[in-house]
Amino acid sequence: MQRTQEMTSVQPDWETFHALPESEKIPFFSRDGRMYDCLFAQQLNRNLLEHLFKVADRLRDVTQQKAGADHVSSLLSDKRAMLYFAQPSTRTFMSFLNACHIMGLKTSEIRDTSTSSEVKGETPEDTVRTFSSYVDMIIMRHPAPGFVEKTAWLMNRTGRPVPVLNGGSGKDQHPTQALLDVYTLYRSFNGDLDNKRIVMVGDLKRGRTVRSLSYLMRNYKNPSLVYVSPKEFRMEADILEFLRRNNIKHEETEDFRGALSGADAVYMTRIQDEHDKNGESKGVDYSPFYFKKEHLGLIKKSCVIMHPLPRRHEIEVAVDDDPRAMYWRQERNGMWARAALISYVFGVDERI
Ligand code: CP
Repeated sequence: MQRTQEMTSVQPDWETFHALPESEKIPFFSRDGRMYDCLFAQQLNRNLLEHLFKVADRLRDVTQQKAGADHVSSLLSDKRAMLYFAQPSTRTFMSFLNACHIMGLKTSEIRDTSTSSEVKGETPEDTVRTFSSYVDMIIMRHPAPGFVEKTAWLMNRTGRPVPVLNGGSGKDQHPTQALLDVYTLYRSFNGDLDNKRIVMVGDLKRGRTVRSLSYLMRNYKNPSLVYVSPKEFRMEADILEFLRRNNIKHEETEDFRGALSGADAVYMTRIQDEHDKNGESKGVDYSPFYFKKEHLGLIKKSCVIMHPLPRRHEIEVAVDDDPRAMYWRQERNGMWARAALISYVFGVDERI
């Protein structure tokens, strides 16, 4: 694969590179005109999204038969992937792991950094560089903002680059969650994602999924975003500035009930108190932002209720039986969307 030598030579240090706008960084994380590392949602344009959704649909279809599943799992049987999850995860980890297995990749994993040589003082940078000695892809989740991107940046400067996929980094981005969220919308609305009103609810300040989803909605015509949160956890200014720059309609409110009636999708999130530094979540009344059974009568028949999961109390369990509750299908969609992404990064997507 042709490397982006030009970027390598003009951006020698990480801090300078990291400060660049995402649009300028995209070429460094691409090879031969294709995305190579998947790090932030701004890399996913409409053409690529629609291609990945078609590949994901095709994967679901083809693998229903053993012959199809065997064919798909032969496509990357010569490749190995490392799943390095330095933060807790159930569905991102499981769906990536099973996506690898669908595509035939062999996998290894570290989920607890106390079992890695980091406890002997090895830096995280040297640790991830070590992975590239053994595997052909790194899939990672890390608590430090920007660290997944830094890993890809480091890899691309070594003699043995391997693609890096972001399974959630700090509070900043969760691009493959946004990919599966939009795939869920795509399937829910028969591919028509224009003119949609998306109501995002909860801890928007520290939720990386709502940030990445906001970026992705730029790809569609006339979206309208409604951010519903307690005043302590409003969406960050950088996202609001991004929406203004891109002329995307948006509003902020604390009126949860009032926001429901015009929604095409209600995207619920939990309080992200693992990011508390000084007990910021204590004393915040989150209960006005819970979706209860009584709210089902306020949303449109065609509205979908989504949640990246895990949930605590944000969606009453009784809501699960409503056909508009999409979150369990959403998490399954993640496996297919991630399998499609892996096939694309390795260039076998056209052979499915
Ligand atoms: N949505 C999501 O990232 O879930 P996990 O934390 O379980 O991976």
